[in-house]
Amino acid sequence: MTIITHATTPFDGQKPGTSGLRKKVRVFAQAGYAENFIQSVFDVVERGAGATLVIGGDGRFHNRVVIARAIRMAAANGYARVLVGQGGILSTPAASHVIRKYGASGGLILSASHNPAGPDEDFGIKYNIANGGPAPEAVTDAIFARTKSIDRWLEEDAGSFDLDAIGTSMVGAMVVQVIDPVADYADLMESLFDFSAIRAAVAGGFRMIFDAMSAVTGPYASEILERRLGFPAGTVRNGTPLEDFGGHHPDPNLVHARELYDAMMADDAPDFGAASDGDGDRNLIIGRGRFITPSDSLAMLAANAHLAPAYASGLKGIARSMPTSAAADRVAEALGIPSFETPTGWKFFGNLLDAGMATICGEESAGTGSDHVREKDGLWAVLLWLNILAVRGISVDALAREHWARFGRNYYARHDYEAVDSAAANALMAELTAALPGLPGRTFGSLIVAAADSFTYADPVDGSVSANQGLRILFEGGSRVVFRLSGTGTEGATLRVYLERYEPAAGAIAAETPAMLADLILAADQIAGIGRHTGRTRPDVVT
Ligand code: G6P
Ligand code: ZN
Repeated sequence: MTIITHATTPFDGQKPGTSGLRKKVRVFAQAGYAENFIQSVFDVVERGAGATLVIGGDGRFHNRVVIARAIRMAAANGYARVLVGQGGILSTPAASHVIRKYGASGGLILSASHNPAGPDEDFGIKYNIANGGPAPEAVTDAIFARTKSIDRWLEEDAGSFDLDAIGTSMVGAMVVQVIDPVADYADLMESLFDFSAIRAAVAGGFRMIFDAMSAVTGPYASEILERRLGFPAGTVRNGTPLEDFGGHHPDPNLVHARELYDAMMADDAPDFGAASDGDGDRNLIIGRGRFITPSDSLAMLAANAHLAPAYASGLKGIARSMPTSAAADRVAEALGIPSFETPTGWKFFGNLLDAGMATICGEESAGTGSDHVREKDGLWAVLLWLNILAVRGISVDALAREHWARFGRNYYARHDYEAVDSAAANALMAELTAALPGLPGRTFGSLIVAAADSFTYADPVDGSVSANQGLRILFEGGSRVVFRLSGTGTEGATLRVYLERYEPAAGAIAAETPAMLADLILAADQIAGIGRHTGRTRPDVVT
């Protein structure tokens, strides 16, 4: 063993955001930057003797450099074993599964999710704990505190490994196991869903498009959809992970997955269209002629989940993030199970899943998942949809209409104002926070404010309290507007405005979303002064 101690000094701003530390590649590429953060993780996280660490990423530019370093650092910090995906690849849900399956003490996931990749774009490092989920705030706070006093990082100099060859080698006293990144995950999916029902549907002519957006899900989707389920070759598009994601923005929404949307709205559209993001945890679901919002997808999946073998005995509860529409709450009520409203960020679902209080979780930001892992899971959502459609022999559009006719419809959209001047965004939020107490009773067009608050979450499992999680303006009749600043951006601030209007089953459930939200959009600007603060007249992205 040859352990080298490198002296270092702290970098400012290594505070993990909604989903780990995310910065431009050029920031991460500074000497010692990634090393300081990784060493801070190793200095504070819990692990026993003989601990295993999982390492993998979404294949983006700079992944290999950081993975090679992290392996040598893990050896120097006393880990007994590292499991790393071949080529440094592990989708986020696959990493979560590998951590759980092999009893690792945690994992490093190298990804900036849906943010673009390449030398001038984004990189990220996230630590997940032994349950397979993102580190909770107590852990990320401790990591951040450590980054402020760090003075050395450790590296093992002895031994070598080949990231591209499946097999075992030694780095100092630590075992490095390069594993097939797909096999364990594909087996898990096969154990959850009715693959024979889906195969039968495919044999009967059911067709789909899966857009992997040149990011990590390509190999997973090809194995599961084309090889195990029998969809024809070519079903998976953009299926080879590229270091720059082909120059695209791998965010599966109506703006960045426009080609898929257009294909699904065409006369010759297949039955089903789906996409995932850079690291494989998000999903986009579009039926022939019918886009399903992530909030509706959660509700519809929850209402039909019992048709999949893994959920045949029912759900324990449904959890959603606060800005996600209340559609899922209505399903929970009908099923007679609890529903939970958490802050934005998958990590807030971890305790509910571990405690067996919730089975299915989802967020408006295109994340859906269950207690099978502790991350949201793009392909899981796709497969649950396929399972439900195959068993029921129904189209996406028909299923959506049936759902709304039973539960009513939560019209929903999110307006994003990106790269806004941080001071202007903070001023907007501060001014609105101060105005909240005076809003109830005030009228905006036909809307009357019923309540207004800043969302605070008290975790029902460990009692921890998270304040300032978004500003909510609730109107009479169940409509609402929520204002939040994104915790995942790398440039300036992103203001998110979440708009929701509820129509009961007997109401206008077959209308177009923009028309149904028009009053709310006007009210949002009047209440928060979006144009006045940001200088913007329209959002950059509407999802
Ligand atoms: C990541 C997290 C999600 C979160 C999303 C949006 O994908 O894993 O849990 O909903 O970011 O976060 P933001 O802070 O940008 O709205
Ligand atoms: Zn992601």
